[in-house]
Amino acid sequence: MNPDSAAKIVDTVFQVLIDGSKQDYIGEKISQLEHSLQAAASAQKASADEETILAALLHDIGQFATSADQKQMLCDASALTDLDPTALDGDIERQISVGVTSHERIGAEYLDRLGFSSKVSALVESHVPVKRYLTGKYPEYYETLSAASKLSLKYQGGPYTREQVQSFENDPLFELKVQLRQWDDAAKVVHLKVPDLESYRSMAIRHLLQQQQVSC
Ligand SMILES: [Fe+2]
Repeated sequence: MNPDSAAKIVDTVFQVLIDGSKQDYIGEKISQLEHSLQAAASAQKASADEETILAALLHDIGQFATSADQKQMLCDASALTDLDPTALDGDIERQISVGVTSHERIGAEYLDRLGFSSKVSALVESHVPVKRYLTGKYPEYYETLSAASKLSLKYQGGPYTREQVQSFENDPLFELKVQLRQWDDAAKVVHLKVPDLESYRSMAIRHLLQQQQVSC
């Protein structure tokens, strides 16, 4: 990927985040963009690596689009990287069309198509598995969830069983995935001053330039 392409991709991704700032963060008194920036700031404060900071910044990006727009997001991503914009994975296309694909999966697929690393995508996609893990391992965590999150957990497969908990703990990104969820849960502070979106531009461009040419 050349620097111009990387800059263009970062422009596009940041615009999605900015557009997301026009939405309220469901049930909270801060915007989606403030929420994302707070999660990224927590990652930065914890001296996380750049992939983890970017994953924190972009973890809800799939949520910034309606179901109808999600397919377009993936097509746009393909077009930006010279991939065939019709080359959507059949499974994900079917799931979008019936509205059952989680925003985490859309976000992860979107970032993957744009050339972000597999680690960034895996962390972004981990939101639901971590929720299932935490409610399975720590039943008291369930009580901290919002009513909407408790309801969605049922459709996401419910808390992990003991076997699933053990299996998840063997995931090489296990600790980071749980950490990201904790930053996500805490990123709801009204009027918290954190670095702005522009402060992540050079990091995002550098990350894209470090990746090998995207393949679909
Ligand atoms: Fe979030």
